Amino acid sequence: MSHDLPDATSFGSARETVSPHETHRLGGRAARLLVGGEVVLLWGPLGAGKTLFTQGLCAELGVKAEVTSPTFTIANRYEGRLIVHHLDFYRLDDGDDLHDVGIDAILDEVESGSAVLLAEWPAPLLPWLSSRLELMVTHGDGADSRLWRLRGVPDLPPRWLPLLTGGDD
Ligand SMILES: Nc1ncnc2c1ncn2[C@@H]1O[C@H](COP(=O)(O)OP(=O)(O)OP(=O)(O)O)[C@@H](O)[C@H]1O
Ligand SMILES: [Mg+2]
Repeated sequence: MSHDLPDATSFGSARETVSPHETHRLGGRAARLLVGGEVVLLWGPLGAGKTLFTQGLCAELGVKAEVTSPTFTIANRYEGRLIVHHLDFYRLDDGDDLHDVGIDAILDEVESGSAVLLAEWPAPLLPWLSSRLELMVTHGDGADSRLWRLRGVPDLPPRWLPLLTGGDD
């Protein structure tokens, strides 16, 4: 499948994280904005920090289970204050059918408001979605620098604006 990334210029301005810990905390900030029903696409190259961000988000939601990369399993499900479906389509082949990863049940649970969906390498999911949040993470200057950008499709809900612009917490 294609591993193309969207153009960073179609996202908002970037916020830098300078350590793995800061990215974990950024995931925690995102968790506090979730009400249930959100779809969050995570774009970015290998090793950028998509899974680490998801781990921070899950920790803030009170997920007790170990959050691991779903690269081979494609879909993991965690229970915290909200249910988290963590998907990674990196190894999905062109002919693979998302029905086989249980996408209908996952989207039903998200639409019910009791779950959220985070997806790495999310291109195969696009035909299934209407509105969603999208984060893009790229490498900055220096080994531990990462640049995070946000957009909403079709629009960014105003409550999400502080994620990348607010103070550090
Ligand atoms: N500022 C930073 N934010 C996030 N990760 C960082 C940062 N600095 C260094 N790292 C390191 O980068 C790696 C990020 O790995 P992670 O598995 O989260 O990437 P990923 O985007 O999920 O990659 P993949 O596409 O392979 O799933 C970790 O080893 C982490 O320690
Ligand atoms: Mg990952």
